[in-house]
Amino acid sequence: MKKIITLLLVLCLSLTFVGCVEKSPAKTSSESSSNNSSVSSDTSSDTGSEDNQDSSTSSEANWGVSSGNNETNSQNSQIDNNQSGGQTTPAETEKKTEKVTDKLKRGINLSGPLESVDIKYDSWIFNPDYYAQLVDVGFDHIRLPVNFGNFIGEAPDFFIETEFLRQVDLAINCALDAGLCVVLDFHGWTGTLASDFNGNKDCFYKIWEQVSARYQSYPEELMFELINEPNNPITNEQLNELQMETVKRIRKLNPTRVIALATNDNNGTWNLFNTQVPVGDENIIISIHNYDTMSFTHQGATWIGSEYGNKTHFDDEARNAIKEHMDYCKLYEERTGRKVWISEWGVYQGIADKEDISDYVDYFSNICKELDIAYCYWEFCAGYGVYDLTTGTFKDFVMDYLH
Ligand code: GLC
Repeated sequence: MKKIITLLLVLCLSLTFVGCVEKSPAKTSSESSSNNSSVSSDTSSDTGSEDNQDSSTSSEANWGVSSGNNETNSQNSQIDNNQSGGQTTPAETEKKTEKVTDKLKRGINLSGPLESVDIKYDSWIFNPDYYAQLVDVGFDHIRLPVNFGNFIGEAPDFFIETEFLRQVDLAINCALDAGLCVVLDFHGWTGTLASDFNGNKDCFYKIWEQVSARYQSYPEELMFELINEPNNPITNEQLNELQMETVKRIRKLNPTRVIALATNDNNGTWNLFNTQVPVGDENIIISIHNYDTMSFTHQGATWIGSEYGNKTHFDDEARNAIKEHMDYCKLYEERTGRKVWISEWGVYQGIADKEDISDYVDYFSNICKELDIAYCYWEFCAGYGVYDLTTGTFKDFVMDYLH
Protein backbone atom coordinates (compact mmCIF):
# COMPACT_ATOMS: atom_id res chain seq x y z
CA MET A 1 0.00 0.00 0.00
CA LYS A 2 2.78 2.36 1.07
CA LYS A 3 4.51 1.64 -2.25
CA ILE A 4 1.35 2.43 -4.22
CA ILE A 5 0.88 5.74 -2.37
CA THR A 6 4.53 6.69 -3.05
CA LEU A 7 4.14 5.81 -6.73
CA LEU A 8 0.97 7.87 -7.00
CA LEU A 9 2.71 10.82 -5.33
CA VAL A 10 5.67 10.63 -7.74
CA LEU A 11 3.27 10.44 -10.68
CA CYS A 12 1.34 13.49 -9.45
CA LEU A 13 4.52 15.53 -8.98
CA SER A 14 5.84 14.68 -12.46
CA LEU A 15 2.54 15.64 -14.08
CA THR A 16 2.55 18.96 -12.26
CA PHE A 17 6.12 19.63 -13.47
CA VAL A 18 5.33 18.78 -17.10
CA GLY A 19 2.26 21.02 -16.86
CA CYS A 20 4.44 23.97 -15.75
CA VAL A 21 6.77 23.53 -18.67
CA GLU A 22 3.91 23.24 -21.12
CA LYS A 23 1.99 26.13 -19.66
CA SER A 24 4.97 28.43 -19.52
CA PRO A 25 3.59 31.38 -21.48
CA ALA A 26 5.20 32.38 -24.74
CA LYS A 27 6.60 35.92 -24.72
CA THR A 28 3.88 38.26 -25.76
CA SER A 29 4.74 40.69 -28.48
CA SER A 30 4.44 43.64 -26.14
CA GLU A 31 6.97 42.11 -23.78
CA SER A 32 9.48 41.08 -26.36
CA SER A 33 9.25 43.68 -29.05
CA SER A 34 10.84 47.03 -28.69
CA ASN A 35 10.82 50.16 -30.69
CA ASN A 36 13.91 52.30 -30.58
CA SER A 37 12.22 55.00 -28.64
CA SER A 38 11.25 52.87 -25.67
CA VAL A 39 14.61 51.11 -25.65
CA SER A 40 16.45 54.32 -25.20
CA SER A 41 14.10 55.77 -22.62
CA ASP A 42 14.35 52.57 -20.62
CA THR A 43 18.10 52.54 -20.55
CA SER A 44 19.14 56.15 -20.39
CA SER A 45 20.31 57.43 -17.07
CA ASP A 46 19.58 61.07 -17.76
CA THR A 47 16.68 61.17 -20.07
CA GLY A 48 14.52 64.08 -21.05
CA SER A 49 11.74 61.74 -22.09
CA GLU A 50 9.14 59.45 -20.61
CA ASP A 51 8.80 55.74 -21.30
CA ASN A 52 6.81 54.90 -24.39
CA GLN A 53 6.77 58.47 -25.53
CA ASP A 54 5.47 58.76 -29.06
CA SER A 55 8.65 59.23 -31.02
CA SER A 56 6.87 60.92 -33.90
CA THR A 57 5.67 63.83 -31.87
CA SER A 58 8.83 65.30 -30.50
CA SER A 59 12.44 65.92 -31.31
CA GLU A 60 13.18 66.77 -27.69
CA ALA A 61 15.84 64.37 -26.39
CA ASN A 62 13.71 61.30 -27.07
CA TRP A 63 16.80 59.18 -27.04
CA GLY A 64 18.12 60.48 -23.73
CA VAL A 65 21.63 61.82 -23.36
CA SER A 66 23.69 60.19 -20.71
CA SER A 67 26.38 60.89 -18.20
CA GLY A 68 26.90 57.59 -16.39
CA ASN A 69 28.42 54.33 -17.51
CA ASN A 70 25.88 52.31 -19.43
CA GLU A 71 26.91 49.52 -21.70
CA THR A 72 23.43 48.19 -22.40
CA ASN A 73 22.79 50.22 -25.50
CA SER A 74 23.90 47.78 -28.13
CA GLN A 75 22.34 44.84 -26.29
CA ASN A 76 19.03 46.62 -26.09
CA SER A 77 19.03 47.63 -29.69
CA GLN A 78 19.35 43.95 -30.52
CA ILE A 79 16.43 42.94 -28.31
CA ASP A 80 14.61 39.94 -29.74
CA ASN A 81 11.66 41.01 -31.81
CA ASN A 82 10.35 37.46 -31.85
CA GLN A 83 6.58 37.45 -31.85
CA SER A 84 6.04 33.82 -32.73
CA GLY A 85 6.08 32.35 -29.23
CA GLY A 86 9.61 31.01 -29.24
CA GLN A 87 9.69 29.63 -32.79
CA THR A 88 12.12 31.56 -34.97
CA THR A 89 11.01 31.90 -38.55
CA PRO A 90 13.63 32.18 -41.35
CA ALA A 91 12.65 35.82 -41.87
CA GLU A 92 13.32 36.54 -38.22
CA THR A 93 16.69 34.79 -38.34
CA GLU A 94 17.61 36.97 -41.30
CA LYS A 95 16.53 40.06 -39.38
CA LYS A 96 18.71 39.13 -36.40
CA THR A 97 21.83 38.65 -38.45
CA GLU A 98 21.35 41.94 -40.29
CA LYS A 99 23.95 44.43 -39.11
CA VAL A 100 23.09 48.05 -38.54
CA THR A 101 25.67 49.04 -41.15
CA ASP A 102 23.56 47.18 -43.73
CA LYS A 103 21.02 49.95 -43.28
CA LEU A 104 23.43 52.50 -44.72
CA LYS A 105 22.84 52.63 -48.45
CA ARG A 106 21.67 56.04 -49.57
CA GLY A 107 22.41 59.06 -47.40
CA ILE A 108 22.56 62.81 -47.43
CA ASN A 109 24.89 65.29 -45.70
CA LEU A 110 23.11 67.86 -43.54
CA SER A 111 25.93 70.32 -43.75
CA GLY A 112 26.02 73.90 -42.50
CA PRO A 113 24.18 74.80 -39.31
CA LEU A 114 26.19 72.70 -36.87
CA GLU A 115 29.48 73.75 -38.40
CA SER A 116 28.68 77.35 -37.61
CA VAL A 117 29.94 79.38 -34.66
CA ASP A 118 26.42 80.65 -33.92
CA ILE A 119 23.81 78.98 -31.78
CA LYS A 120 20.49 79.48 -33.58
CA TYR A 121 17.40 77.45 -33.00
CA ASP A 122 15.45 78.66 -36.03
CA SER A 123 17.49 76.65 -38.53
CA TRP A 124 15.90 74.14 -40.91
CA ILE A 125 18.09 71.49 -39.29
CA PHE A 126 15.79 71.38 -36.24
CA ASN A 127 12.60 70.99 -38.27
CA PRO A 128 11.28 67.39 -38.30
CA ASP A 129 9.40 68.04 -41.57
CA TYR A 130 12.60 67.96 -43.59
CA TYR A 131 13.59 64.62 -42.11
CA ALA A 132 10.20 63.16 -43.01
CA GLN A 133 10.70 64.40 -46.57
CA LEU A 134 14.14 62.78 -46.73
CA VAL A 135 12.61 59.46 -45.75
CA ASP A 136 9.83 59.92 -48.31
CA VAL A 137 12.30 60.21 -51.15
CA GLY A 138 14.23 57.14 -50.01
CA PHE A 139 17.17 58.29 -47.94
CA ASP A 140 18.06 55.90 -45.11
CA HIS A 141 20.73 57.91 -43.32
CA ILE A 142 22.16 61.35 -42.76
CA ARG A 143 25.69 62.45 -42.12
CA LEU A 144 25.74 65.26 -39.60
CA PRO A 145 28.84 67.47 -39.86
CA VAL A 146 29.40 69.08 -36.45
CA ASN A 147 32.28 71.28 -35.40
CA PHE A 148 32.55 70.65 -31.66
CA GLY A 149 35.80 72.60 -31.74
CA ASN A 150 33.87 75.88 -32.02
CA PHE A 151 32.40 75.45 -28.56
CA ILE A 152 35.10 74.15 -26.28
CA GLY A 153 36.51 75.58 -23.06
CA GLU A 154 40.06 75.71 -21.81
CA ALA A 155 42.55 72.90 -21.21
CA PRO A 156 42.78 70.45 -19.55
CA ASP A 157 39.07 69.49 -19.80
CA PHE A 158 38.02 71.22 -23.00
CA PHE A 159 34.39 71.10 -21.91
CA ILE A 160 31.97 71.36 -24.82
CA GLU A 161 29.25 73.97 -24.17
CA THR A 162 26.03 72.32 -23.09
CA GLU A 163 23.85 74.64 -25.14
CA PHE A 164 25.66 73.58 -28.28
CA LEU A 165 25.38 69.91 -27.38
CA ARG A 166 21.63 70.41 -26.95
CA GLN A 167 21.47 71.61 -30.53
CA VAL A 168 23.35 68.52 -31.66
CA ASP A 169 20.91 66.36 -29.64
CA LEU A 170 17.97 68.02 -31.36
CA ALA A 171 19.22 67.35 -34.87
CA ILE A 172 20.15 63.76 -34.04
CA ASN A 173 16.74 63.18 -32.43
CA CYS A 174 14.91 64.59 -35.44
CA ALA A 175 16.70 62.11 -37.68
CA LEU A 176 16.34 59.07 -35.42
CA ASP A 177 12.68 59.85 -34.79
CA ALA A 178 12.12 59.91 -38.55
CA GLY A 179 13.73 56.46 -38.84
CA LEU A 180 17.03 57.61 -40.32
CA CYS A 181 20.45 56.39 -39.23
CA VAL A 182 22.81 59.18 -38.22
CA VAL A 183 26.56 59.40 -38.67
CA LEU A 184 27.85 62.12 -36.36
CA ASP A 185 30.86 63.60 -38.15
CA PHE A 186 33.40 65.77 -36.30
CA HIS A 187 33.87 68.26 -39.12
CA GLY A 188 35.92 71.39 -39.68
CA TRP A 189 38.58 71.05 -37.00
CA THR A 190 41.15 69.10 -38.99
CA GLY A 191 43.12 72.27 -39.83
CA THR A 192 43.53 73.09 -36.14
CA LEU A 193 44.73 69.58 -35.48
CA ALA A 194 47.09 69.65 -38.45
CA SER A 195 48.58 72.99 -37.38
CA ASP A 196 49.95 71.41 -34.19
CA PHE A 197 49.22 67.70 -34.12
CA ASN A 198 50.97 66.86 -30.86
CA GLY A 199 49.73 70.01 -29.16
CA ASN A 200 46.08 69.44 -30.12
CA LYS A 201 45.56 65.70 -30.14
CA ASP A 202 44.71 65.61 -26.43
CA CYS A 203 41.92 68.11 -27.05
CA PHE A 204 40.65 65.86 -29.86
CA TYR A 205 40.55 62.87 -27.48
CA LYS A 206 38.78 64.89 -24.77
CA ILE A 207 36.14 66.02 -27.26
CA TRP A 208 35.44 62.45 -28.32
CA GLU A 209 35.35 61.24 -24.71
CA GLN A 210 32.60 63.76 -23.98
CA VAL A 211 30.65 62.92 -27.12
CA SER A 212 31.05 59.23 -26.40
CA ALA A 213 29.71 59.64 -22.85
CA ARG A 214 26.82 61.82 -23.94
CA TYR A 215 25.46 59.41 -26.54
CA GLN A 216 26.31 56.06 -24.95
CA SER A 217 22.62 55.24 -24.38
CA TYR A 218 21.55 56.11 -27.89
CA PRO A 219 20.44 53.35 -30.25
CA GLU A 220 22.92 51.71 -32.56
CA GLU A 221 21.49 53.73 -35.46
CA LEU A 222 23.68 56.58 -34.20
CA MET A 223 27.26 56.16 -35.42
CA PHE A 224 30.42 58.21 -34.95
CA GLU A 225 32.81 59.49 -37.61
CA LEU A 226 36.05 60.62 -36.01
CA ILE A 227 37.54 63.18 -38.38
CA ASN A 228 36.79 64.83 -41.74
CA GLU A 229 39.36 64.99 -44.51
CA PRO A 230 42.68 64.57 -42.68
CA ASN A 231 45.50 65.65 -44.95
CA ASN A 232 49.05 66.91 -45.19
CA PRO A 233 50.93 67.64 -42.92
CA ILE A 234 49.15 64.92 -40.93
CA THR A 235 51.02 61.72 -41.80
CA ASN A 236 49.54 58.24 -42.12
CA GLU A 237 51.33 57.28 -38.91
CA GLN A 238 49.84 60.22 -37.02
CA LEU A 239 46.37 59.54 -38.37
CA ASN A 240 46.61 55.88 -37.39
CA GLU A 241 47.80 56.82 -33.91
CA LEU A 242 44.98 59.34 -33.54
CA GLN A 243 42.20 57.06 -34.73
CA MET A 244 43.36 53.96 -32.85
CA GLU A 245 43.61 55.92 -29.58
CA THR A 246 40.23 57.61 -30.12
CA VAL A 247 38.52 54.28 -30.85
CA LYS A 248 40.07 52.85 -27.69
CA ARG A 249 38.62 55.68 -25.61
CA ILE A 250 35.19 55.54 -27.27
CA ARG A 251 35.02 51.78 -26.80
CA LYS A 252 35.04 52.19 -22.98
CA LEU A 253 31.44 53.42 -23.07
CA ASN A 254 30.36 52.41 -26.55
CA PRO A 255 31.75 48.90 -27.00
CA THR A 256 29.90 48.14 -30.22
CA ARG A 257 28.81 51.46 -31.69
CA VAL A 258 29.73 51.79 -35.35
CA ILE A 259 32.71 54.09 -35.89
CA ALA A 260 33.74 55.42 -39.30
CA LEU A 261 37.48 55.94 -39.79
CA ALA A 262 38.97 58.32 -42.32
CA THR A 263 41.76 57.62 -44.76
CA ASN A 264 44.46 60.22 -45.24
CA ASP A 265 44.56 62.72 -48.15
CA ASN A 266 41.00 63.94 -47.65
CA ASN A 267 39.43 60.51 -47.18
CA GLY A 268 41.31 59.37 -50.25
CA THR A 269 40.62 56.00 -51.86
CA TRP A 270 44.27 55.12 -52.42
CA ASN A 271 44.95 55.19 -48.68
CA LEU A 272 42.40 52.49 -47.86
CA PHE A 273 45.03 49.83 -47.19
CA ASN A 274 47.23 52.32 -45.28
CA THR A 275 44.54 52.90 -42.69
CA GLN A 276 44.92 50.97 -39.48
CA VAL A 277 41.83 49.30 -38.04
CA PRO A 278 41.59 47.82 -34.52
CA VAL A 279 42.04 44.07 -34.79
CA GLY A 280 38.84 42.11 -34.31
CA ASP A 281 36.59 45.17 -34.17
CA GLU A 282 33.64 44.31 -36.41
CA ASN A 283 32.00 47.69 -36.00
CA ILE A 284 34.37 49.85 -37.97
CA ILE A 285 33.61 51.20 -41.43
CA ILE A 286 35.77 53.36 -43.68
CA SER A 287 34.70 56.79 -44.87
CA ILE A 288 35.82 57.77 -48.39
CA HIS A 289 35.25 60.99 -50.36
CA ASN A 290 35.16 61.24 -54.12
CA TYR A 291 35.01 64.45 -56.14
CA ASP A 292 36.37 63.20 -59.45
CA THR A 293 37.25 65.19 -61.29
CA MET A 294 37.79 68.27 -59.16
CA SER A 295 37.67 70.50 -62.25
CA PHE A 296 34.16 69.19 -62.90
CA THR A 297 32.70 68.88 -59.37
CA HIS A 298 34.18 72.14 -58.13
CA GLN A 299 33.66 74.34 -61.19
CA GLY A 300 32.76 77.79 -59.90
CA ALA A 301 34.04 77.02 -56.39
CA THR A 302 36.59 79.81 -56.60
CA TRP A 303 36.95 80.00 -52.82
CA ILE A 304 39.15 76.91 -53.01
CA GLY A 305 41.25 78.23 -55.92
CA SER A 306 41.02 80.58 -58.87
CA GLU A 307 41.69 77.65 -61.24
CA TYR A 308 38.12 76.49 -60.57
CA GLY A 309 36.60 79.52 -62.24
CA ASN A 310 35.79 77.90 -65.62
CA LYS A 311 32.75 75.95 -66.72
CA THR A 312 33.52 72.30 -67.52
CA HIS A 313 31.48 69.28 -68.58
CA PHE A 314 31.09 65.75 -67.31
CA ASP A 315 33.46 63.74 -69.48
CA ASP A 316 35.16 60.38 -69.87
CA GLU A 317 38.09 61.41 -67.73
CA ALA A 318 35.68 61.91 -64.82
CA ARG A 319 33.74 58.73 -65.65
CA ASN A 320 36.89 56.61 -65.72
CA ALA A 321 38.29 58.12 -62.56
CA ILE A 322 35.07 57.49 -60.65
CA LYS A 323 34.90 53.90 -61.90
CA GLU A 324 38.53 53.25 -60.98
CA HIS A 325 38.03 54.58 -57.45
CA MET A 326 34.81 52.70 -56.85
CA ASP A 327 36.35 49.45 -58.10
CA TYR A 328 39.18 49.94 -55.62
CA CYS A 329 36.68 50.49 -52.80
CA LYS A 330 34.97 47.24 -53.79
CA LEU A 331 38.29 45.44 -53.85
CA TYR A 332 38.97 46.67 -50.32
CA GLU A 333 35.56 45.49 -49.16
CA GLU A 334 36.07 42.07 -50.68
CA ARG A 335 39.56 41.61 -49.27
CA THR A 336 38.81 42.84 -45.77
CA GLY A 337 35.10 42.19 -45.30
CA ARG A 338 34.88 45.77 -44.08
CA LYS A 339 32.31 48.24 -45.34
CA VAL A 340 33.37 51.28 -47.35
CA TRP A 341 31.02 54.23 -47.24
CA ILE A 342 31.31 57.08 -49.75
CA SER A 343 30.45 59.78 -47.25
CA GLU A 344 30.89 62.71 -49.66
CA TRP A 345 30.43 63.12 -53.39
CA GLY A 346 28.55 65.77 -55.32
CA VAL A 347 28.91 68.74 -57.60
CA TYR A 348 28.84 72.46 -56.89
CA GLN A 349 25.96 73.98 -58.80
CA GLY A 350 27.27 77.53 -59.19
CA ILE A 351 28.08 77.48 -62.92
CA ALA A 352 27.59 73.81 -63.87
CA ASP A 353 25.01 72.89 -66.52
CA LYS A 354 22.02 71.04 -65.12
CA GLU A 355 22.33 68.31 -67.78
CA ASP A 356 25.90 67.69 -66.67
CA ILE A 357 24.87 67.53 -63.03
CA SER A 358 22.14 65.01 -63.89
CA ASP A 359 24.57 62.89 -65.95
CA TYR A 360 27.10 62.90 -63.16
CA VAL A 361 24.59 62.00 -60.44
CA ASP A 362 23.12 59.27 -62.64
CA TYR A 363 26.53 57.78 -63.46
CA PHE A 364 27.94 57.90 -59.94
CA SER A 365 24.90 56.56 -58.12
CA ASN A 366 24.47 53.80 -60.70
CA ILE A 367 28.00 52.57 -60.12
CA CYS A 368 27.39 52.54 -56.38
CA LYS A 369 24.19 50.62 -56.93
CA GLU A 370 25.83 48.08 -59.21
CA LEU A 371 28.74 47.52 -56.84
CA ASP A 372 26.51 47.71 -53.76
CA ILE A 373 28.53 50.51 -52.21
CA ALA A 374 26.87 52.83 -49.70
CA TYR A 375 26.92 56.55 -50.37
CA CYS A 376 26.03 59.83 -48.75
CA TYR A 377 25.49 62.74 -51.14
CA TRP A 378 27.02 66.13 -50.41
CA GLU A 379 24.65 67.88 -49.61
CA PHE A 380 21.08 68.79 -48.60
CA CYS A 381 20.34 72.47 -49.30
CA ALA A 382 23.49 74.56 -49.79
CA GLY A 383 25.63 75.03 -52.92
CA TYR A 384 25.73 71.35 -53.94
CA GLY A 385 22.24 70.64 -52.62
CA VAL A 386 19.41 68.33 -53.57
CA TYR A 387 16.78 70.59 -51.99
CA ASP A 388 15.60 74.14 -52.54
CA LEU A 389 14.65 75.69 -49.19
CA THR A 390 12.92 78.68 -50.79
CA THR A 391 10.43 76.57 -52.76
CA GLY A 392 10.39 73.69 -50.27
CA THR A 393 10.99 71.11 -53.01
CA PHE A 394 13.65 68.67 -54.12
CA LYS A 395 15.56 69.57 -57.27
CA ASP A 396 14.47 67.25 -60.07
CA PHE A 397 17.74 67.54 -61.96
CA VAL A 398 19.48 65.91 -58.99
CA MET A 399 16.86 63.74 -57.30
CA ASP A 400 15.49 62.14 -60.47
CA TYR A 401 18.97 60.80 -61.18
CA LEU A 402 19.96 59.66 -57.70
CA HIS A 403 19.56 55.89 -57.70
C1 GLC B 1 34.68 69.03 -47.55
C2 GLC B 1 34.68 70.32 -46.82
C3 GLC B 1 33.40 71.07 -47.09
C4 GLC B 1 33.21 71.22 -48.57
C5 GLC B 1 33.15 69.87 -49.22
C6 GLC B 1 33.02 69.99 -50.72
O1 GLC B 1 33.89 68.20 -46.81
O2 GLC B 1 34.86 70.14 -45.47
O3 GLC B 1 33.43 72.30 -46.44
O4 GLC B 1 32.05 71.96 -48.87
O5 GLC B 1 34.30 69.14 -48.92
O6 GLC B 1 34.09 70.73 -51.25
